[in-house]
Amino acid sequence: MKKSDRIVVVGAGLFGLTAAHQLALEGYDNITVLDRHVPPVPDGSSVDISRVIRFDYGDDAYLRMAYDAYEKWSKLPKYKDIFSPSPFILTANSDRPFGRSYIEKCTAALTERRLPWKPLEDAGAAKRMYNNLSGPLASPGFVGYTNAQAGWADAHKAISQLRDDCIDFGVSFISGRAGTVVGFETNSESQIQAARTLAMDLVKGDRFILAAGAWASSLVPFYGSALSTAQVVGYVELTHDEMERLKNLPIYINFSTGWFNFPPHKESRLLKMAIHGWGYTRPPSTQEKVVLNADVSTPPLKAPRERANFVPKDGEDRPREGLAEILPELADRPFERVALCWYTDTPSGDFVMDYHPDYKNLFVAGGGSGQ
Ligand SMILES: Cc1cc2nc3c(=O)[nH]c(=O)nc-3n(C[C@H](O)[C@H](O)[C@H](O)COP(=O)(O)OP(=O)(O)OC[C@H]3O[C@@H](n4cnc5c(N)ncnc54)[C@H](O)[C@@H]3O)c2cc1C
Ligand SMILES: *[C@@H]1O[C@H](CO)[C@@H](O)[C@H](O)[C@H]1NC(C)=O
Ligand SMILES: *[C@@H]1O[C@H](CO)[C@@H](O)[C@H](O)[C@H]1NC(C)=O
Ligand SMILES: *[C@@H]1O[C@H](CO)[C@@H](O)[C@H](O)[C@H]1NC(C)=O
Repeated sequence: MKKSDRIVVVGAGLFGLTAAHQLALEGYDNITVLDRHVPPVPDGSSVDISRVIRFDYGDDAYLRMAYDAYEKWSKLPKYKDIFSPSPFILTANSDRPFGRSYIEKCTAALTERRLPWKPLEDAGAAKRMYNNLSGPLASPGFVGYTNAQAGWADAHKAISQLRDDCIDFGVSFISGRAGTVVGFETNSESQIQAARTLAMDLVKGDRFILAAGAWASSLVPFYGSALSTAQVVGYVELTHDEMERLKNLPIYINFSTGWFNFPPHKESRLLKMAIHGWGYTRPPSTQEKVVLNADVSTPPLKAPRERANFVPKDGEDRPREGLAEILPELADRPFERVALCWYTDTPSGDFVMDYHPDYKNLFVAGGGSGQ
């Protein structure tokens, strides 16, 4: 690979921007990032008021990668106003095998790496340690532990900073219709020569990186290795007093249901919760089917101004049930807003990082799987 190769990155989310940034750092000097919208992209999975930063993974490769990332988030001055430290509580119910086994794998992997964690014998122990957890949690049947080394990042700010870092290093951006890829032009040797856009332009390149998140499988075949699903997110507005009282609220995840919360977000005064679990699929519209020539679950192709304040009717119940378990005093409060956020789930939960089997010069970076 030559430093002067023209590299075209499709998607300006976390995966695409990180790839562009790293390549620019390594001296590649002809990198163009294409996206439907200017980053931070309003409906991109990488963008919101918050994302959890944790290294509690059962698989050692992910644990090490996430631990390195945590070290940077928590120590580098450039993340000071973006990263907030917070303890992380992982819980499950002893009668639900999935959640319990996740916890067993995580604690085993942490122990193997000599990283500290504290078991929580029962719900009472969790409540004593974090007295803001006013709800019943699960008793009986509670299993869980806590990791003091975790936190959350303001994802909107983080992506804005990463975009600016890319620009500093000479990366170019094309957004809007001329940045919206609808297909690839190939030669007879299965090499992509250009990305075709909604504006009918051709963006030529030597190497292509597909980092289009949940949209990626509508651009090239994924052969069953990823499914795009919309996950439910809910936001409750807090009063100034509640902000003060709940400022040390931990991140709490119930792995039996996938429900989790974030500590209150200062600037918006929102308490956010989401479900890391099954989601909704969406077939492409008739028009999208024609443009993209694909018929798999996908988010809308047209970029909105902001993520829609919408979830299917039954989608509000799960976030509310989880809230009642940890903070029953807030369980009846109407959501300030609700939203759908797209996961790209793979069968094993692994990322997809490889050359595409059908195109010699297309590298795929995706399969975020909500991790
Ligand atoms: C509700 C929710 C909660 C999550 N919580 C966490 C968490 O707490 N911690 C954590 O680590 N991870 C979390 N994740 C997962 C994490 O956010 C994702 O794995 C990650 O953001 C995926 O990044 P990406 O770059 O692949 O996708 P995206 O950020 O979606 O980027 C893809 C980009 O491609 C662009 N694009 C799409 N189609 C085209 C096209 N045709 N042409 C040009 N551009 C296109 C899109 O506009 C978009 O900007 C969560 C995800 C969700 C949905
Ligand atoms: C990338 O290379 C092409 C072809 O050599 C050139 O026309 C273009 O100006 C270069 N772009 C950048 C951003 O360097
Ligand atoms: C929560 O924590 C704050 C201090 O951080 C404390 O004032 C408050 O009483 C705690 N308990 C509850 C139930 O909110
Ligand atoms: C997890 O959620 C389920 C379903 O709402 C609930 O029955 C259980 O008590 C919760 N467990 C914990 C540990 O919060």
